[in-house]
Amino acid sequence: MKSKIEKLKSEMLTVLKKADSHDTVRDLEIKYLGRKGLFVDIMKSLKDLSDEDKRTVGKLANETKTELEVAVQKRYAELEMAELGEIAEKEWLDVTVPGKKPLIGHRHLISKFMDDLEVIFAKMGFAVAGGPDIETEHYCFNQLNIPPDHPARDMQDTFWIKNLKDTVLRTQTSPVQIRYMESHEPPVRIIAMGRTFRKDSDATHSPMFHQLEGLMVDENVSMANLKAVMTHVLQQIFEDPSIKTRFRISYFPFVEPGMEVDCTCPICHGDGKISDGTPCRLCKQCGWLEIAGAGMVHPQVLENVGYDSKKYTGFAFGLGLDRMVMIKYRINHLRLFFENDLRFIRQF
Ligand code: DAH
Repeated sequence: MKSKIEKLKSEMLTVLKKADSHDTVRDLEIKYLGRKGLFVDIMKSLKDLSDEDKRTVGKLANETKTELEVAVQKRYAELEMAELGEIAEKEWLDVTVPGKKPLIGHRHLISKFMDDLEVIFAKMGFAVAGGPDIETEHYCFNQLNIPPDHPARDMQDTFWIKNLKDTVLRTQTSPVQIRYMESHEPPVRIIAMGRTFRKDSDATHSPMFHQLEGLMVDENVSMANLKAVMTHVLQQIFEDPSIKTRFRISYFPFVEPGMEVDCTCPICHGDGKISDGTPCRLCKQCGWLEIAGAGMVHPQVLENVGYDSKKYTGFAFGLGLDRMVMIKYRINHLRLFFENDLRFIRQF
C-alpha cells in the first residue's frame, strides 16, 4: 500500500512537471486528486487495513495528498509566471520613448498675404466683402458695363458652366462691387479678395488665380483719394515708404477714366539697376512695375445698382495677388504656389 502511494506520487509529479498549460494541470489535478480520482481510491481501500496500518498508511496518504496539492498549486503559479513573462516580452512598450509628431500643415503664403492685406485696409476703414466663385453673367459682366461682345467675355478667357445658363467661374473679383452696392447704401468702402478663373495656363498664368478688389463710393470721392490709397497700400505691402505710384490711361468698361497703376520697382527703387550697377531683372530696367487696374466708377455702374450718379462718385481698383506675392517674397516660379510642397510653404 505504501509503495502504491509512493508510485502514484512519483508518477503524478513526473507528468505534472511536463504539464505545460493550465488545462493539462487541471486534468491531472482531477485525475489524481479529484473526487473520483486515483487518490480517493487509495483512501477508500484504507478501510481494509489493520488499525495499526490504517494509522501509518493513512498518515502517509494524507501527507502525500497535501504535498501533491501544493505541487499542483506551484505548477499553476509557474505557468502563470511564464505566461506573464511571455506577454511582457511580446507586448512591452517603452513609455519614455518620445512620441511621433503628427505632420501638421502650414498656412499657404497667399492666405497669409490676404490676411496682411485685410489688416492694411482695415486700418483705412475698409470692410471685407465677398462673393461666390461661381457667378452669373449678370454680375460678372452685364452690371459691370461689359457688353456681350467685349473681349473679357470671349470663349478664350471665360469658363462657362455647362448646363447652367448664364453662369461662369468669375473671371474677376469686380462682381463683388455690384453685389455689395446692391445691398448697401453709400458710403461704401470695401475690399474683396478671392479666387478668379480664366482659361489661361503657362509659366506666368494659371487658370485659377487671386485678385483683390477695392471700392470706395461716397460724395466727393476723387482720383486724389484713389492715388493716396494706392500709394499707401503699396508702401505698406512692400514695407517701403519710398514707393511711388503713377497712373497710365487705360480702358476697363466699368470705370471712366480707367487706368493702369504702376509702382516704383521695390528692388531697384525705380533706378532700373541694383546697387552694384547690374540691370534690375524684376522690372526689366524700366524702374516701374504694372500692379493694378483702377479708375473712377462708371456712372452707368452706379446707376445699375440704383445709386444717384450725380450725387455719388467712387473709385475702384483690382490687383492680381499671386504676382504681388511673388514680387514681395522673391518667388520665381508660379507653380510653387500650387505644388503645396511643405518645404516651400513652411518658409513663410
Ligand atoms: N477686373 C479687372 C481685371 O480683372 C481689374 C480692374 C480694373 C478692377 C479696373 C477694377 C478696376 O476695379 O477699376 O482685369
